[in-house]
Amino acid sequence: MLSKFVLSSVIAALAVAYPAQAAPQQMPKRDTIELSKVAQLRIADTAVDRFKLLPKDEDFMFDFSKSQIPVATASNFPALVGSGASFSLASLPGCHMAFLHLHPRASELFAVTSGRVVTEMVPEAGVVTADGKQRVIRTDLSAGMLTIFPQGSFHTQVNPNCETANISAFFTAEDFGAGLVADQTFALSDDVIIRTFGESIPGEDIEKIRHAIPGTMAILVDECMAKCNKTKRHI
Ligand SMILES: *[C@@H]1O[C@H](CO)[C@@H](O)[C@H](O)[C@H]1NC(C)=O
Ligand SMILES: *[C@@H]1O[C@H](CO)[C@@H](O)[C@H](O)[C@H]1NC(C)=O
Repeated sequence: MLSKFVLSSVIAALAVAYPAQAAPQQMPKRDTIELSKVAQLRIADTAVDRFKLLPKDEDFMFDFSKSQIPVATASNFPALVGSGASFSLASLPGCHMAFLHLHPRASELFAVTSGRVVTEMVPEAGVVTADGKQRVIRTDLSAGMLTIFPQGSFHTQVNPNCETANISAFFTAEDFGAGLVADQTFALSDDVIIRTFGESIPGEDIEKIRHAIPGTMAILVDECMAKCNKTKRHI
């Protein structure tokens, strides 16, 4: 009886000791996974916990003059995690046009703070004029005016003046994303493009169009450049 008791005690002791002793031997040593600040903020249990991850007052300041890009999103301004918002403070030089683009995950509230910007926006299919044509919404904004580009709408902004226009934009998502209409459309196969454009673009021209699509977000508008005596250069 005694031996049985001793045995069971030993087994119990082993069972208790086993995980602690065995764990370091059995588990291969792994490199610690360093979660980014943004990742830690995203998995925080509560909003209160998120504030603990941002202990400094400076964590709540974003300096556009020190940023490589004119946009504050959750990835470069972690205090935005959980806010569902991001913001841009930018300028559009005279005679420049921002590519036709869309934001797949956000509506954009676009305001002009100095200068003038003309915008065009194509809402979703089915938004038509009285004579059944696709509706295009144009706005001519001077300082202190605002427009909205609804989520997913195609839009573009043009500065028709010689002077730089300053703009600010609020986005209703932390990671609003961008779709570049020309670039992405012409990434499709030649066959798809030929059929999409009703066989109006000859096959040999498709490659030319692909190469002609400017690589920067802003493109120059020729007539305006001539009017303003600006020399042609891509920014
Ligand atoms: C426009 O923005 C630039 C760069 O941030 C700034 O230097 C300039 O003073 C602004 N102009 C006006 C009129 O607000
Ligand atoms: C551009 O140059 C022409 C000729 O030199 C001049 O008459 C005109 O005022 C200039 N325009 C601007 C916006 O500087």
